[in-house]
Amino acid sequence: MRQNISDAEAEAKGLIASADSLEKLREIEPALFGKKAALGQLKRGLGGLEPDERREMGQALNAARQQIQQLLGDKRSTLETAARRVQLEAERLDLTEANAGRAWGHQHLISQTTQRLEDVFVGMGFEVAEGPEVEDDWHNFGSLNFPDDHPARAMQDTLYVDLNEPESTMLRTHTSPVQVRTMLNQKPPIYIVAPGRVYRRDTADATHFPVFHQIEGLVVDKGITMADLAGVLDEFTRAYFGHDIESRLRPSFFPFTEPSAEYDITDPNQRTGWLELGGCGMVHPNVLANCGIDPEVYTGFAFGFGIDRLAMMRHEVDDLREMYTNDLRFLSQF
Ligand code: FA5
Repeated sequence: MRQNISDAEAEAKGLIASADSLEKLREIEPALFGKKAALGQLKRGLGGLEPDERREMGQALNAARQQIQQLLGDKRSTLETAARRVQLEAERLDLTEANAGRAWGHQHLISQTTQRLEDVFVGMGFEVAEGPEVEDDWHNFGSLNFPDDHPARAMQDTLYVDLNEPESTMLRTHTSPVQVRTMLNQKPPIYIVAPGRVYRRDTADATHFPVFHQIEGLVVDKGITMADLAGVLDEFTRAYFGHDIESRLRPSFFPFTEPSAEYDITDPNQRTGWLELGGCGMVHPNVLANCGIDPEVYTGFAFGFGIDRLAMMRHEVDDLREMYTNDLRFLSQF
């Protein structure tokens, strides 16, 4: 019987060794442990043996069975690992391959415009500053010389944040609070631009959106005059729009500049003559004083342009809303 056990064991080992797939391994399993398997039949033959021999042969049979089970388990895990490797290789996705021949994504027109504007001003010696989009009343209005009853503080313009006292915290309505934060943190000479997102309760139309972008400019130094402002804006217009476009300053009003002006450029599409792109002026002495700068010693100018409108003008976009609908047919043009 011992010989029969080793024969059955050898045969089982041969079967396991020859199985080269998980499927084949499943197929041979009944031949190893099923009712008709050699080991099973030997086990049934134990009944006819003497007790001592039965015990001995029973142990030998169990040992053989355990060894075969161990071999089967090892073989199964080897085949599983191999199968997983084959599957992974088949499912491998080459992302660079997927992109071949297709358009790459790129920055949104507003981001491109912001970077171009920064480049122009950095080229003129300005530094880039930034400030928070959630502001308090003092930074957004009070320090900028807005009287308490100024209409821009009314609910129709400002989106308030439900925090602290009612109407004390808001989404900034312009980038001008960055002027204040810069002057509070830095002694003159100051030459900065501050691009960023701003918010107003404006209804969306072809030239307005409730979320839009501005770029603020601020210069504070000794002996700065309105001529410096005009010179910088002329230089900027040529650098950003090219030589065919002219700019002009038109008298206007802002509480934080005196005198104040509106900055217009000639319409590149020759439709309406002049187009308003932003406000500017000489920094009001009250604003300098509010920020701890002596208006008897220093003067300055500031400007604030709508980035979305600058992009519209330069790229002949008719409707500002197109910038925010994320239609790839529109976005991929730029
Ligand atoms: C201001 O916001 C001033 N802070 C600008 C300024 C800065 C003046 C420094 C003087 C000194 P105004 O509200 O006019 O000004 O907005 C400036 C520009 O933002 C507008 O000329 C326009 O180009 C753009 N703008 C205003 N509202 C919207 C809107 N809803 N959607 C898109 N662009 C807008």
